[in-house]
Amino acid sequence: MPAAGTQTWNTVWITGASSGIGYELARLLVEKAAHVAVSARSTGPLQELSDRSSSIRAVPLDVTDAGAVAKSVADISEGCGAIDLAVLNAGAWSMMSVDEFDIDAVRRGVEVNVMGVMNALDALLPRMLARGKGHIAIVASVAGYRGLPRSLAYGPTKAALINLAETLRTELEPRGIRVSLISPGFVDTPMTRDNPFPMPGLISASEAARRIVAGLEGRRFEIAFPFGFSCVMKLLRALPDWLYFRAIRTFVWKA
Ligand SMILES: NC(=O)c1ccc[n+]([C@@H]2O[C@H](COP(=O)([O-])OP(=O)(O)OC[C@H]3O[C@@H](n4cnc5c(N)ncnc54)[C@H](OP(=O)(O)O)[C@@H]3O)[C@@H](O)[C@H]2O)c1
Repeated sequence: MPAAGTQTWNTVWITGASSGIGYELARLLVEKAAHVAVSARSTGPLQELSDRSSSIRAVPLDVTDAGAVAKSVADISEGCGAIDLAVLNAGAWSMMSVDEFDIDAVRRGVEVNVMGVMNALDALLPRMLARGKGHIAIVASVAGYRGLPRSLAYGPTKAALINLAETLRTELEPRGIRVSLISPGFVDTPMTRDNPFPMPGLISASEAARRIVAGLEGRRFEIAFPFGFSCVMKLLRALPDWLYFRAIRTFVWKA
């Protein structure tokens, strides 16, 4: 439990907290919140987190199960107090080129990355709107800025989340609810460990979590990192199509 007066939030909820960025976020946010509820499907790591601190509560769930998400949000709100900050971080990545198009993997990506967030919003929005406060942070990716090779089951889902965060902000900010868009570059987690391609600017999950917490506290809308790589990706986003596709052919396909 953080010392009195140092709490930024009362109740924080993190999805995808069983490994990688979400796990490290839980370890950091427990210093800043009275209660941290951690969710994912794997119960072992969630239990490990809750064994570290009485302020961390394991709430196992599958984000694709709308009923389980709604029940968990209700349980957390009743047990810990209204959720002040929800970090919607659960995500699934699979590398896929056109030659290996796999509709099941595409569906899984959409279900976890997009519908998982929508299920959380379905449970959170009425509560936050009724209170006129709250903070929703959506973990997208710089991979959602523009179309990238081998990203058929992932990039489109993250592009959807970027649009979703912007859309939410237009309506929620005037109603007292903050929205953050988290756009990581490459982070060393179980998700990326088997990637067979170079990952420029790779940072550790604990470093990613530090940058996210600093961004959430700094009240920025988009929290993009690491600085150098995200600048390159933003530059690519700003290029005219002819130059962008030429750059991809030259640099990415040859990597
Ligand atoms: N690592 C990177 O380079 C990178 C870059 C940009 C964006 N991101 C994004 O950052 C977020 C965290 O990823 P990570 O890198 O930390 O990877 P990770 O270690 O693989 O974490 C993914 C988390 O999502 C959870 N999850 C997956 N499917 C779920 C489901 N159906 N229901 C509930 N939880 C589910 C996993 O837990 P269970 O399997 O236990 O359910 C795990 O806790 C993701 O949204 C990812 O797209 C990562």
